[in-house]
Amino acid sequence: MLKNSIQSWDDRREIIILPTEQETLLFAQEHWIHSAKRAIQQRGRFAVALSGGSTPKTIYQSLAQSKDIDWTNVFLFWSDERAVPPDHPNSNYHMASQTGLVKKVPASQVFRMKAETEIQKHANQYEEFLTRYLDKHLFDLVMLGMGEDGHIASLFPLTTALQEESCLTVANYIENKKEWRMTLTFPAIHQSLHSVVYVLGAQKKETVKKVLEAPILSKWPASRLGTTEHKTLWVLDEAAAALL
Ligand code: 6PG
Repeated sequence: MLKNSIQSWDDRREIIILPTEQETLLFAQEHWIHSAKRAIQQRGRFAVALSGGSTPKTIYQSLAQSKDIDWTNVFLFWSDERAVPPDHPNSNYHMASQTGLVKKVPASQVFRMKAETEIQKHANQYEEFLTRYLDKHLFDLVMLGMGEDGHIASLFPLTTALQEESCLTVANYIENKKEWRMTLTFPAIHQSLHSVVYVLGAQKKETVKKVLEAPILSKWPASRLGTTEHKTLWVLDEAAAALL
């Protein structure tokens, strides 16, 4: 099921399109479990960066029920976080906790982004965690959603974090939301062994077409995802892929 459905899109991206939202979420869960088993078998642990958003939330709920994961060797990180406390309804950590996923993992292996205070200092500290606990390949899997404006993680159009070429984690001010975020950068995503972006629903079909068919444009941060060394996998349902 996994490999024979994934197609090459270009030299830095792969794609799989599933008929329905349900089938797409089931593939996402199977792909996550396959990624975890492969990483644990090959490298002794599975280091994954969790995304915020409604699509990943449904995936986490299913994963938390799975009996097929060796949680003792899973290390949880985040792709991005809002500048709110960990018990705030807008927190990506809170969302993952509510699904039951976080408590499956030993607490010493859960690395929350402390974005609620001193966000730049804690972004620097988070980067120290990455370099201390991970190797140069960083994450075995970076999970991402995409907004209708083409943002991924908290890499929003026309924000300073898009220009970051060396730091792995930064604080990023989102002018049109009037809020700060902590986010992985493109160097962090592209150094990682695998990255996957989940896009479901007809409301995103125009952005999907622009991002996958247009040249790399900072106006559409998601268009930058993927390298020839570490391809990004696009996981779409037919509604989101309708204009391709
Ligand atoms: C966040 C997410 C963000 C999200 C996209 C897609 O903190 O909001 O990291 O990048 O993944 O906005 O969200 P949906 O899947 O809910 O459309």
